[in-house]
Amino acid sequence: MIRQAIIPLAGLGTRLLPLTSVYAKELLPINGKIGLEYIIDECIDAGVKDIIFIISKKKEIIKKYFYNDKFYQRIIKKKKDLRIIKEYKKIKKYKKLIKFVYQNSPKGTGDAVLKTKNLIKDKYFLMLLPDDLIIKRNCTKDMILLHNKKKCSIMASMKVNKKTVNRWGIYSKKKNINKNNFIINDVVEKPNAASAPSNNAIIGRYILTKKIFKKLQNQKKGKGGEIHITDSIRQLIQDGEKFIGHNFKGKYLDCGTLKGYLKSSLEISKI
Ligand code: G1P
Repeated sequence: MIRQAIIPLAGLGTRLLPLTSVYAKELLPINGKIGLEYIIDECIDAGVKDIIFIISKKKEIIKKYFYNDKFYQRIIKKKKDLRIIKEYKKIKKYKKLIKFVYQNSPKGTGDAVLKTKNLIKDKYFLMLLPDDLIIKRNCTKDMILLHNKKKCSIMASMKVNKKTVNRWGIYSKKKNINKNNFIINDVVEKPNAASAPSNNAIIGRYILTKKIFKKLQNQKKGKGGEIHITDSIRQLIQDGEKFIGHNFKGKYLDCGTLKGYLKSSLEISKI
């Protein structure tokens, strides 16, 4: 059973400047709702009971968003606005599920994951990257169902344009399980087009084994001087750990770039 999800939120959001110069990108609205809420709802709907946010001192505004009780109580006392009451109830519901850990220097996704080590209880846990929205289908739910059958680590994936492989973690297949699921042979973080093993890109939904923490503890810096989760996953695969690439159903929206962020509101408003 998978009950815990971690969400790295300490990134600086430079791809979205100037929108992120004083604000957290995960709190930017997408069609009238903060982006992070889509991710939390995906977790709740998939049966997740415990969500760990990895934030930094610079991004305490995220904690404030969920811990602004006094403000809401004051407003609600003054005007009995049903919409505000409903929104506040929702925020309180989220707050009960969320824990916070800190990653004060942005050393990469792998380093962020390591900060959650002492909080992870089960053999497997989820990671969702908030830049990646998947709409029209709950990818996390589908991955948990697959995990319950296969009992191994899983990463969401999709085919990308060969020219853009240096934006993603890219994996090669060892074996096809069926049309949408593959046993992964190897994975590499943001390769250039000439050396990429394929155009199968990893998208930000992971079911990871707890064994990853051992690898992360000794993980050397990789691409761009960061500690990448992909590099530790690669080591686990080399040790014989099974990882499945899952080509998800649903539509992918890249909210980490300005162009993608703008497009995401349009796409969601059409649903
Ligand atoms: C991260 C991962 C990368 C993955 C991507 C998905 O990169 O390191 O392997 O393909 O998320 O969005 P980032 O977007 O943080 O640069």
